[in-house]
Amino acid sequence: MSVLVPTMGALHKGHQALIKRARSISKDVVVSIFVNPLQFENQEDVMKYPRSPERDIQLATLAGATEIWMPEYEEIYPNDYATLLAGNLGDNYEGKSRPGHFDGVVTVVNRLFEIVKPEIAVFGEKDFQQLQIIRAMKKSVEIIGVPTVREFDGLALSSRNIRLTPEGRVSANVIYRAMAAARLAPTVAIAQEILATTIATDSAFRCDYAVIVDEENFEIATDATQQKRAIIAGWIDGVRLIDNMRMGA
Ligand code: PAF
Repeated sequence: MSVLVPTMGALHKGHQALIKRARSISKDVVVSIFVNPLQFENQEDVMKYPRSPERDIQLATLAGATEIWMPEYEEIYPNDYATLLAGNLGDNYEGKSRPGHFDGVVTVVNRLFEIVKPEIAVFGEKDFQQLQIIRAMKKSVEIIGVPTVREFDGLALSSRNIRLTPEGRVSANVIYRAMAAARLAPTVAIAQEILATTIATDSAFRCDYAVIVDEENFEIATDATQQKRAIIAGWIDGVRLIDNMRMGA
């Protein structure tokens, strides 16, 4: 049984957790490394995206990858490829701030599935909206989500963290603090209030959104029966950071 772990490289411990999870399921773990231009709004960012192939090979192998696949653009996107649309789930939050981003994600994930034909694919919960959109693609590939790996102070691991200044790195902790403080609030309204007031304690964080949503449809949560998740995004030092946390005990 083959398990695919799609990545864009610049691997860190968060990716290694995905690969280890894949390896716990199967002896056949393919890690793809492809910086997908379709999911960037600005093509300069594609050029600037960190690339560390030798280190990636080491980290992926150490975590248990049995095949590391670094396709060329033409292999993923032959002349006749069609861009797919992410649908309603891709319209808000990350989709609103980054128009076309999720269309690019579903297009590349679809191509990776067509080429590798895995039975299972593993993605991080860190990009929770992405994970739910991929789940909604309803392919014959089982999708497994792996919990976010965090730094000592709760900051979600991300290849972007190294671009923060030392002061910005300290401020970035406000994201985790806000979600952790809201998690056990008795009502959604109180949780929302705690998110907002905690975020306002650090002026270095320029908030894009900080809301409690229904995990399935990303609508603002109101109903007590819904499974809820805090989702946050914003900028520190011009670096976009996103995170999320399931609410409740
Ligand atoms: O999460 C990522 O690294 C990318 O969005 C993915 C899923 C590899 C698609 O390019």
